[in-house]
Amino acid sequence: MEENVIPHNFSVSQQQRSELKKHKPLLVWFTGLSGSGKSTIANALEKALFAKNIHTYLLDGDNVRKGLNNNLSFSQEDRTENIRRIAEVSNLMIDAGLVVLASFVSPYREDRENVKRIVGYQNLVEVFVNTPIAECERRDVKGLYAKARAGEIQNFTGVNAPYEAPMAPDVEIDTTMFSVEEAVSLILDEIEKRIKRKE
Ligand code: ADX
Repeated sequence: MEENVIPHNFSVSQQQRSELKKHKPLLVWFTGLSGSGKSTIANALEKALFAKNIHTYLLDGDNVRKGLNNNLSFSQEDRTENIRRIAEVSNLMIDAGLVVLASFVSPYREDRENVKRIVGYQNLVEVFVNTPIAECERRDVKGLYAKARAGEIQNFTGVNAPYEAPMAPDVEIDTTMFSVEEAVSLILDEIEKRIKRKE
């Protein structure tokens, strides 16, 4: 079927949309264990970017899994599909000219590589929120680690499903060492280099 789908060339280009926004688009991909602090940092980062007149959108595992991806489980296969769809949505948002913040456990290296292939390596900043599992479990904000340990949740990342850490993330944050403000400032430094437009 796909061979009969011919993309249309629209009149307003990505370049023009981006010029209007006065910054380049980018995908900031947060990966890390559940409860590592990804969403907290992404949220604070979005606030900081918004204050700088940067056009953003935040995609988050818990929210996207209630809508677009509400038919997906936490099996390896479904996580791969979860991440693939997010990458395609992010790609559309990049085309729209936005700085997209995506916060997903995304435990499989190959799935994260696929995101980079879909959006283009130059369009992505990978942020590894590397909080030790003992700390995530101590916080257990959503009570999910306790449930997983009690055998009430299968395939829980870090307990009975794997997490493959990034080998060379652009930014790495251990939230036991850095405050949210410090983390935001580190990521902002990286982002600002990447989204600057030459006037
Ligand atoms: S991913 O692995 O497919 O990237 P995603 O980021 O969308 O995961 O969703 C993770 C969130 O779903 C966690 O923060 C947690 O609140 C919840 N969750 C529920 N079950 C699981 C599970 N088995 N493994 C990991 N997270 C889970």
